[in-house]
Amino acid sequence: MQEINYKNILKKIKPSKQENEKVKKLSKHILEAIYESSVSLDVKVDAMLVGSIAKGTWLAGNADIDILIKFPLDTDEKYFKKYGLKIGHKAIKKMDGISEERYASHPYVTGYIQGYFVDFVPCYNIKSSQELKSAVDRTLLHTEFIQSNLKQEQHDEVVLLKKFMDSVGTYGSEFKVGGFAGYLCEMLILYYGSFNETIKNAAENWNYGFSFDLKEHGTIQYFKDPMVAVDPVDKNRNVAAALTLQKMSEFIIASENFIINPSEKYFTNKDIITDPIKIIDQFNLRGTKTLLITFKPPNIPSDAIYPQIKKTENSIVKVVESEGFSVFGSESWTDEKDLVLILIEFEIWNLPIIQKHYGPYIWIREHQKRFLGKYGQNACLEGDRWVVNVKRSYENVEILLSDLMTEKKSGYLKFGKHLKKKIINEHKIIDLNIFLESDNIDDNILKFLYNYLNKGELLIR
Ligand code: CTP
Ligand code: MG
Repeated sequence: MQEINYKNILKKIKPSKQENEKVKKLSKHILEAIYESSVSLDVKVDAMLVGSIAKGTWLAGNADIDILIKFPLDTDEKYFKKYGLKIGHKAIKKMDGISEERYASHPYVTGYIQGYFVDFVPCYNIKSSQELKSAVDRTLLHTEFIQSNLKQEQHDEVVLLKKFMDSVGTYGSEFKVGGFAGYLCEMLILYYGSFNETIKNAAENWNYGFSFDLKEHGTIQYFKDPMVAVDPVDKNRNVAAALTLQKMSEFIIASENFIINPSEKYFTNKDIITDPIKIIDQFNLRGTKTLLITFKPPNIPSDAIYPQIKKTENSIVKVVESEGFSVFGSESWTDEKDLVLILIEFEIWNLPIIQKHYGPYIWIREHQKRFLGKYGQNACLEGDRWVVNVKRSYENVEILLSDLMTEKKSGYLKFGKHLKKKIINEHKIIDLNIFLESDNIDDNILKFLYNYLNKGELLIR
């Protein structure tokens, strides 16, 4: 690999001394606010800073503060849920922040405090994975594991790997991305030692099913995912379970590209063009037709929304193709609050009025009799098989789509569980060209459209 000035890159992507101090100080105040809140509510808990700030592996400008509120193991579940939220709300109020309830494996509160997002996640105070009560309890063990195993000089290697992942679009284990979790990046650095070695191995040696097991728990064979990374603190968990084959492949290709032509650009987020006119032009040049199905998302946790949208999208594609139309591509987007977009780009969106309907072979005389009984003179032979021209049910895909989204016909589609009602009652079908004519389109939608049109772009610089 060619030489590249990592020191220079790190100066830009690592938190500055100032940022570091500011975040640490804020975290300390928040921990104090939790302590005070718990005392005034008369609840016995311990608060602890976890996640990438506690591990010293966060990216500049990207400080999400993760805090666990630890309850004794024998705490009653109802009490745990109630006071977990109460303490969070109270502490956020004390810090003059804005709070919002979220849901992971149980409810928690997120606060927006002095420009930072802070998660207040209640958990049980466990000492080992055998005591696991909820998925977030693991976070505690992860933090301790990385704190005691990641060598000083390896922190920079993690930051490089996270930033590389981020800029090529493979960072983040949430459903929206389906990429590599921060903890997985840390595990990769522990396994390979450095950023360069990780990139080199991904490019040259990773296969489908690539696996590693830092603590040699011996449980690799129990997982059937594209990549297996046995959690050092929990032998029953694959940390790469949420990694999609797509994102794994993208990372491998980006690594190959980086080795061929190493450049600082791999550590910079690409500027994305969000000019609607340019996007319309690019779509129009393709000669396809693109429709958007829009509706408001149901009020459920964000990690539950994405799979339901994907399921609905896939089902729509399947049904319209079975009616003879042809889909060039599809993708979905949501802001998780006000709007869901399902984009479907068509290669064939209009079909002739007639359609061939094949009947039995002439050798099956019983069936032939029934077929001719129904179609008589209209039937004709194609070789030894009967065929008849019938009127097609749908000549235009838009009409088919709006029919599918009515109560009567909705049985043909597989909707996500919480989406069906929303879609039937409030969906709109809009031609992309018309959608893009309206003013004030969310910048994130334009980015989504740009990325849809320029899929491979982030992988090579
Ligand atoms: N976590 C996990 N598996 C995931 C996501 C999160 O085990 N798929 C746990 C990890 O212990 C992680 C913690 O939840 O450290 C906090 O999650 P997150 O903020 O997403 O990860 P960080 O490690 O803090 O990395 P960063 O915030 O820098 O992306
Ligand atoms: Mg974090």
